[in-house]
Amino acid sequence: MTQSQTPSPSSSEAPKEAQSLAQRGNNRSRQPTNQAFRDFIGSGWGPRPDAPPALSEAAPWAARRQAALGARFPGERLVVPAGTLVTRNNDCDYRFRPHSAFAHLAGTGTDFEPDAVLVLEPLTVPGQQLADGEPTHEPVLYFRPRAPRTSEEFYANARYGELWVGVRPSIEEVEAATGIRCAHIDTLGDALAKDAGADGVRLRVVAEADTAVTALVDRVRRGASLAAGQEARGLDDTLAEATSELRLVKDAWEVDQLQKAVDATKAGFDDLIRSIPRAKGHWRGERVLEGAFGARAREEGNGLGYDTIAAAGDHANTLHWINNDGPVQPGQLVLVDAGVEVDSLYTADVTRTIPVDGRFTAPQRRVYEAVLEAADAAFARAGEPGCRFRDLHAAAMEVLARRLEEWGLLPDGVTAADSLGPDGQYHRRWMVHGTSHHLGLDVHDCAQARREMSMDALLVPGMVFTIEPGLYFRDDDLLVPAELRGMGVRIEDDVVIRPDGRPEYLTAAIPRRPDDVEAWVGGLIES
Ligand code: GLY
Ligand code: MN
Ligand code: MN
Repeated sequence: MTQSQTPSPSSSEAPKEAQSLAQRGNNRSRQPTNQAFRDFIGSGWGPRPDAPPALSEAAPWAARRQAALGARFPGERLVVPAGTLVTRNNDCDYRFRPHSAFAHLAGTGTDFEPDAVLVLEPLTVPGQQLADGEPTHEPVLYFRPRAPRTSEEFYANARYGELWVGVRPSIEEVEAATGIRCAHIDTLGDALAKDAGADGVRLRVVAEADTAVTALVDRVRRGASLAAGQEARGLDDTLAEATSELRLVKDAWEVDQLQKAVDATKAGFDDLIRSIPRAKGHWRGERVLEGAFGARAREEGNGLGYDTIAAAGDHANTLHWINNDGPVQPGQLVLVDAGVEVDSLYTADVTRTIPVDGRFTAPQRRVYEAVLEAADAAFARAGEPGCRFRDLHAAAMEVLARRLEEWGLLPDGVTAADSLGPDGQYHRRWMVHGTSHHLGLDVHDCAQARREMSMDALLVPGMVFTIEPGLYFRDDDLLVPAELRGMGVRIEDDVVIRPDGRPEYLTAAIPRRPDDVEAWVGGLIES
């Protein structure tokens, strides 16, 4: 039986037309469309501000990044999408967060701008000799500018309409704020196709950022008899790799943003510690801690750079413990890994392991001090000439292997030196993660960089990275003494290499030595 043949429930009701499932989503409400209403809602509003916004602080830095990327691909059209809104459920989207390559190159921060696309338009042809400093590309920013108040979009479009999502910018306003020429997103297809071809302009796209834009680029390529789809992925991967490597060295503005993110994170940790008494009395105390940090993150910045880990007792031994649904009990350590992402979208990444009673027990302090010593060793190595990124991990592991040997935890007959060799690595049972990663717009920044540019590279001024050793003794780990079981400790700091080559903690103001941690907790919680 088809839908239209289904008998109506009451013979007195007129039969209704069958509604598709997609149409039913509109059942909650419907906007009027009659002309009188449209004239009415489109009129009677005050003027828009007449002065355009000032050039943003980030704009000159972004211009340098655009020039540096363009210099790697002269003569090619480079397409960097911001990405689109992602559905959370039904008709609710996640809060928009632009792709980091876009945010970096466009110099825009929070909420700018679903479906925008930055194109570096070539000013030269491949192989052309360039004079020193001659620009290779002109950036053009395509986006959907706000619609007039007389449009249906103004009141009826829940994704873009001004009455739904707030005032959106005009072309002129974005040009003034970014210093980049802007154009309507509807002109993107034609702009990408212009002069495209084997003897003309070739295209590359940051393919993962927005599948619709990638598909558009592939259509343009096919139309121009260029390799497309999988055959072009190698070209596109090289662009993604270049955008990632461009972020390995932070400029002064970025380091300042990261310091702001760390400062806000310190404030978040302060609030979290103040919430410990309430957490101890709550059936899901870890959520109390998470909430205290998260509230501050939203107040001070865009939000969190990643989901907070608030892990009491044995939960600290689950490395990505983000359920945070356990209690916080007297005598426990709580491992908190949390970072504020500021409005420019740079994030901190900080871990502190805090005794909830304000004092470390002797076994807790022993483990904590071993981890601290490993962290200090990695930091000291960062200051040595010729230090490569991977040496940070090696320095931390040397300390942890030595301590684990002293505590009799390595297998019989295995020394720390044996364990550190490629056929050993027994100490890694108690710390399976890495010691360091780059930090920036992404918490694990520059992830597409080539190994020789990241792990194997020398540390150079402007690099920002974490140092985060830990020791994790699960409560079902039969190889460790009972007094250590159910205890996980990580200490994570954010470090910058200064112009003179010295490493410096961005996180210096967040207590990390055990006496300082105790004083910190004691100073914020009334006993
Ligand atoms: N919070 C993620 C990490 O420490 O790498
Ligand atoms: Mn980290
Ligand atoms: Mn972390």
